[in-house]
Amino acid sequence: MDPTSDAQVSPQETLRQVRRALEDLVLFEGRQFIAPADMSHPAAPDEAQVEAAQVEPSGEPEPQMPEPMAAEPDQIQAEPQMMEAPPTPQVSGTESLEGFRQQICECTKCELGHTRNHFVFGAGRADADILFVGEAPGADEDRQGEPFVGAAGQLLTKIIEAMGLRREDVFICNLLKCRPPNNRDPLPEEVASCEPYLKEQIRLVAPKVICCLGKFASQALLRSDLSLSRMRGQQHTYEGIPLVVTYHPAALLRNASYKRDTWEDVKTVRRLFDGVEL
Ligand code: URA
Ligand code: URA
Repeated sequence: MDPTSDAQVSPQETLRQVRRALEDLVLFEGRQFIAPADMSHPAAPDEAQVEAAQVEPSGEPEPQMPEPMAAEPDQIQAEPQMMEAPPTPQVSGTESLEGFRQQICECTKCELGHTRNHFVFGAGRADADILFVGEAPGADEDRQGEPFVGAAGQLLTKIIEAMGLRREDVFICNLLKCRPPNNRDPLPEEVASCEPYLKEQIRLVAPKVICCLGKFASQALLRSDLSLSRMRGQQHTYEGIPLVVTYHPAALLRNASYKRDTWEDVKTVRRLFDGVEL
């Protein structure tokens, strides 16, 4: 029998997937921060909207068919390799960020420059108010040259939409621009050689708020060796810019119980974006 056919998925696995989809529905889809009207220039939500958005979910979600959910990383079908295709233009807006991309996109300062398929600079608005920083490209990102396009990326997109924004309204990048083989953790020397690129991106984009996804980006920008759980829930700044630490979406895929805290963190990001005093 085809080992990938639905008939092979155990009832426990099906239940786990449905539960996870319902969690997303409640936390990231059922609770839009504001009703997204014109999302290119979101107005400050009025008090009533903020209140409504802050109401905690009332226990059981409505019985409803779950939306299609992000596939498990190991269920993602590898797409045909298209390494010769040039990456599509990803950075809209000012010339200087695109100029910076062109300056650094052939980088071979560390070993990863010799094993990558694509240098993954980042994507989104060059003048974004919110800048998300992940860890490093995974297999999908390395193949496509674009950050956060795999399973974790699909969840990040849902989170951004739940904030009342669109993916293209923000800027998304990673601490490392090249994929570590087998998605291993970034090595200190890789962080050291790539970090200046991130810092220059932050300087050029000049966001109102930075959201670090996971331990590595947070530790690098905050010059900290604290655990993620010690860093999140605190007020931080990087070069005077408010910085919010939250879980990496890949961690949310492994442990759905992190989603509730993540929702609190991204509400903080949204409030900082709206200029609300914390
Ligand atoms: N994980 C990351 O940290 N970054 C990506 O771009 C994709 C997955
Ligand atoms: N530990 C991490 O390093 N990152 C997370 O996002 C969660 C736990």
